[in-house]
Amino acid sequence: MAEEAKNSSGGSAAVVADGHGVETASVGTAVLSSDAVQNPGLPPHRKRVTDLDPKKEKNAERGVYGLFYLSIVGSLGAVLAYMFFPIESGDASEIRLHTIFVGSGMALALLAIGIGAVHWGKALMYDGESIDLRHPVASDEPTREASAEVFKVADQESGFSRRTLVRNSLFGALIAFPLPGITLLRGLAPQDIDPVEVLRHTMWDKGIRLARDNGGHKVGEAIRAADVTIGSVFHVVPENLGQAKDVLNEKAKAVVLLIRLDEKDLKETPEKESWSYNGIVAYSKVCTHVGCPVALNEQHTHHLLCPCHQSQFDVSDEAKVVFGPAKRPLPQLPITVDDEGYLIAQSDFNEPVGPSYWERLK
Ligand code: FES
Repeated sequence: MAEEAKNSSGGSAAVVADGHGVETASVGTAVLSSDAVQNPGLPPHRKRVTDLDPKKEKNAERGVYGLFYLSIVGSLGAVLAYMFFPIESGDASEIRLHTIFVGSGMALALLAIGIGAVHWGKALMYDGESIDLRHPVASDEPTREASAEVFKVADQESGFSRRTLVRNSLFGALIAFPLPGITLLRGLAPQDIDPVEVLRHTMWDKGIRLARDNGGHKVGEAIRAADVTIGSVFHVVPENLGQAKDVLNEKAKAVVLLIRLDEKDLKETPEKESWSYNGIVAYSKVCTHVGCPVALNEQHTHHLLCPCHQSQFDVSDEAKVVFGPAKRPLPQLPITVDDEGYLIAQSDFNEPVGPSYWERLK
């Protein structure tokens, strides 16, 4: 069924009904809805206990500023925890305590601000329903005055200016909350040492045996050249890693992948010919892109894959980059064997390990 309706400009438009109360119309056709839901209006306002009982209102106010003070305690607690539980030796239990106490302080600080703000809003601020009808976006003078009036009324109703204890404790909590974050930045700064020097050298040195990496702080047994069969891969750390002051940091720089290839597959430049032993080569495991561990070995292609951004390095060709965002080969650790047949380092790496940025500081 179709009927004609007068539009606002005096013209006529087709109105289409499909016989099931649902009306369909083409673009430009006026649609008259016959079953629009009537505005039910607002239900009657129910007062809260804090509106009716001044004692309960006072209790709610105490609760709110108590939470904001609790937030301050949490923030200061996090700062104190940072000072009293420092990470110095890199020991896992030390890291755990530091993380638990600093994290708990920060969580308490943020949680208490959040709960306090919600409690303030629900229990004390004005909770009457109001309707704000749509209006043009541009604001004229009367609108601006009305806005200022709204702010004034909101201030009176929320008690923001009147409840000075609540307001000031909130300001205090918000000022104190960023402190733990700022304090944590201290941990990023070098402690009286040159960061370039720290990153340039690893624990590898002449004569240090290559030992299996047994995970975490654990150092496995030293590796004999005879135990490394063609195609096998070993995750390796310096045998003396346990003597390091900061075991995990030292390990992060010194981790090595040991791989044996068929000697005829190895392409070596003359100056690096003496860096391998019977086809056994050792490369830094720290990706030269942004430092992820390169640990996936594709035996047939001799490619090492970094799982982070898929850089690939050709182990048979001095770990040169064959794919991905890395910009330089993995640094090679020169190795040989000692009198007992154990694999040992000839020296430290001859260039900084890790992201390419450090190469510029060679
Ligand atoms: S860190 Fe290895 S490819 Fe990005």
